[in-house]
Amino acid sequence: MRTLHEIDALRQALNEARHRGKRIALVPTMGNLHAGHLALVTAARAQADLVVVTVFVNPLQFGLGEDLDAYPRTLAEDQAGLENAGCDLLFAPSTATLYPRGLDSLTRVSVPGISEGLCGASRPGHFDGVATVVTLLFNLVQPDIACFGEKDYQQLAVIRQLVADLHFPVRIVGVPIVRAEDGLALSSRNGYLDAEQRARAPALYRTLQALKVALEQGAPVAQSIGAALEQLRERGFIPDYLEVRRAGDLGPLLDSSREVVILAAAKLGPTRLIDNLTARLP
Ligand code: PAJ
Repeated sequence: MRTLHEIDALRQALNEARHRGKRIALVPTMGNLHAGHLALVTAARAQADLVVVTVFVNPLQFGLGEDLDAYPRTLAEDQAGLENAGCDLLFAPSTATLYPRGLDSLTRVSVPGISEGLCGASRPGHFDGVATVVTLLFNLVQPDIACFGEKDYQQLAVIRQLVADLHFPVRIVGVPIVRAEDGLALSSRNGYLDAEQRARAPALYRTLQALKVALEQGAPVAQSIGAALEQLRERGFIPDYLEVRRAGDLGPLLDSSREVVILAAAKLGPTRLIDNLTARLP
């Protein structure tokens, strides 16, 4: 595996690969990699000849008072994990390399509609920051496929919309959520939890599971959400949202909706956790 930090070197390596007819897969990350990220690399490896992983903590997608400075940066460990998982090229640019003019008057990409509500409501500007950096990375790497986790369900939907609207010739692959044995969705932010919070954290998944069972048995949606929110509060969470939306486009439920997704964000102490589960209404 080669690690590159500069755009010219990346372009040169990719041009050579493309010339030799290699199929290129991109896995964008912010580093501090865990088994969830590595599942994306495995999925990419299975579908492409050259796997490019990017590690970049993107300041554009962090709001004021969020954890940009505290976000864990662990490049040496990430390199070892990526090497084992079958990554060919690691691109780890500095902020000055990706955004040489700074952030203030930077060209932005925005995906209205799908970026609003859910995480978009509590993190204004977040999905514009994601859409902008993903557009930039698609332009730099020009991948044939790109892999994203279903853990960030709304992010995946935003990126699918971005690719459709801008006619990017990239196939987006969604990869199922990787969980710890106790059900907690793996996340770099789990590292912020103390031992007591970590023991409590799987209650978020268990609450979503119980809600899924209730909805699949035909329980009324609004009432079931109310009960689930109550459970979360009893277990020490401060819920940000808990919603049931149409799977795929995240639109509001219609009487005819069957394939749905239950999405939640909740704080445990200062740490914000997100999770989701799909369900099929009767
Ligand atoms: P990051 O949080 O590092 O996640 C990188 C990718 O890993 C995302 O596609 C995310 O959905 C996926 N992922 C994280 N935890 C996962 C898990 N437990 N199971 C499966 N997939 C998981 O998401 C971002 O970075 C950024 O917003 C990014 C897309 C890189 C743009 O900056």
